[in-house]
Amino acid sequence: MPVDEKTLTLTHRLRRNRQTESIRSLVRETHLKPSDFIHPFFLIEGSQTRQPIVSMPRVERLSLDLLLQEAEKLHRKGIQAIALFPTIHPELKSETGDEAWNSFGLIPQAIRAIKKELPSLSIIADVALDPYTLHGHDGIVTEKGEIANDETVECLCKMAYTLAEAGADFVAPSDMMDGRVGEIRKWLDSSGFTNTGILSYSIKYASSLYSPFRDAVQSQLAFGDKKTYQMDPANSREALLEASFDESEGADILMVKPATLYLDIIAKLRQQTQRPIAAYHVSGEYAMVMAAHEKGYLNAEKVLYETLLSIKRAGADMIFTYAAPLILPLL
Ligand code: PBG
Repeated sequence: MPVDEKTLTLTHRLRRNRQTESIRSLVRETHLKPSDFIHPFFLIEGSQTRQPIVSMPRVERLSLDLLLQEAEKLHRKGIQAIALFPTIHPELKSETGDEAWNSFGLIPQAIRAIKKELPSLSIIADVALDPYTLHGHDGIVTEKGEIANDETVECLCKMAYTLAEAGADFVAPSDMMDGRVGEIRKWLDSSGFTNTGILSYSIKYASSLYSPFRDAVQSQLAFGDKKTYQMDPANSREALLEASFDESEGADILMVKPATLYLDIIAKLRQQTQRPIAAYHVSGEYAMVMAAHEKGYLNAEKVLYETLLSIKRAGADMIFTYAAPLILPLL
């Protein structure tokens, strides 16, 4: 019997589990923790140098000495892995991006230094030619202006070898050439780097959300776009094929990129694979929130927290994000 006429007899009252923070925390299904995040760094030559990146508030290009300090701070707060991207001096760029496999280049030297100072921090080194090429494409350009797949794969193998030799824990091909995971795996294994992992940018869309990143690494496309190698945002079956080929070629971790506009893809991939999934919450996804925050339209910390939670809820095991320093205090 209802206690009074106004009380309904309801079997289910889902609000009972939402009454207090302590009850909410008992029934919470998804949790964020510092080790979920991979922090990307933009590295420049020199020392004691930091350069703001206008389109990415609070993110800076850093020289190695400052990068080491920042990485140490983040590692102390629980971040377990960083990703490294170089801003290459224009004089070192070329048509074929040969600087990418120079063992004494900016990134290999940084990997050695970081491994020496912070041996317990994992390093994920990007494999793609775009920071090193004059035209800004991820591969070798033919006379017809096409991106040559197989020639590029050979360059990527040389680059992956250089990064593995320097001590990277994972090499991360972000180029979207066909067959590169298998070739890199063979190349690494035959050189004795059987323990260097491959975190493949398996499902990377030709997204408009990468422009702040291209400012950060100062890599502008001299012609065309990346649609002949990066994926069409309209496709999801093709995305699952990309991931399954990378998996069969030996990828240790599969990535979906960008993250928030592709949560459906993360969720579908979660159904398909037993491999760990990484998601890249990319520069544009970060920049949009920060710009709105600066205008006073929303609260960046809260929106970024909710964003990262949604990426994990969709099925990602780890998230590349520029937002970790902002949301670590909320965890
Ligand atoms: C380079 C690369 C890109 C990003 C990561 N690696 C840019 C691109 O493909 O043009 C984007 C990351 C971001 O936007 O935060 N191959």
